[in-house]
Amino acid sequence: MSLNELTLNSQSLDTFSKVFESYGSDIKRFKPAFMKRRLDRRMRMLEINNYYEYALILKRERREFEELFASLSINVTDFFRDFAVYEKFRSSIIPKILTNLKLKDKIRIWSAGCASGEEAYSLAMMFSYASGKNFDVEIVANDINKNAIEYAQNGLYPAKNIEKLPENIIKNNFKKISNSENIEEYEVLQSIKNLVTFKVSDILSCDVTQYDVIFCRNVLIYYEKETQELIMEKFNRCLKESGYLVLGMDETMLGRKCAKLFHPIMPRERIYQKMHSDKLPDWNTSNL
Ligand SMILES: C[S@@+](CC[C@H](N)C(=O)[O-])C[C@H]1O[C@@H](n2cnc3c(N)ncnc32)[C@H](O)[C@@H]1O
Repeated sequence: MSLNELTLNSQSLDTFSKVFESYGSDIKRFKPAFMKRRLDRRMRMLEINNYYEYALILKRERREFEELFASLSINVTDFFRDFAVYEKFRSSIIPKILTNLKLKDKIRIWSAGCASGEEAYSLAMMFSYASGKNFDVEIVANDINKNAIEYAQNGLYPAKNIEKLPENIIKNNFKKISNSENIEEYEVLQSIKNLVTFKVSDILSCDVTQYDVIFCRNVLIYYEKETQELIMEKFNRCLKESGYLVLGMDETMLGRKCAKLFHPIMPRERIYQKMHSDKLPDWNTSNL
């Protein structure tokens, strides 16, 4: 039987719940479907296809528990996470946005649920490069996690966080520094930092202002459908006409309500466009 066919029933959940408790953690705050995806992913890597067997390993090996927990951690993020999505956005969407702007117009972007800032800075790097000096770029980035926002504001990252980035991105956007313990770190250049304003706030209760683009990636997965719909309605109100919304690779637009608000123009990359009553969505996109 494949892992996809295995059911994470209440008995298995109870078993995992006890393991989590033994490490001082609580499994119940995670959505069961999300939990199953993470468990299956780890089990696939370890070639295990039995929840009970994996629970025993977790109980025995703290290190494996830490691996699993890290994959559940709500602050997990990366620079240019899912690089292909950024690449598609840069090559197919940004030119469309720029065409509709007047010289010196400001492009406004919201990184909603930005964690420790990597997404917001990636957007700042991508947009400042793509728009040259012709347009102003403003990124607003928020998160409910105060520590994550403080970290983001510093813009200082361990070398391992950027080592997979292409050389030209590192060269053009980071400054290498050695800290007091002689450990190499990379600081985002001030010119990039200046484009981003970080805020501690909740997506659902922060102000409604108008953006050209919203990136909200790997946030919705933690929420039940009703909350996801409220967030989508908020994003719809916060986007300019025909503005773009980008979700995470594990996320899709759920339900009929959302289907009325956004149209998937690049479903594979989870790139959506705001529906507008008197304007058809952007049907000309290459990978429709
Ligand atoms: C897994 S991280 C994703 C970070 C980044 N967007 C990415 O895709 O790499 C999810 C972040 O969303 C934040 N978050 C969750 N719910 C939120 C909310 N209602 N308002 C603001 N931030 C939220 C969490 O604190 C966490 O830092």
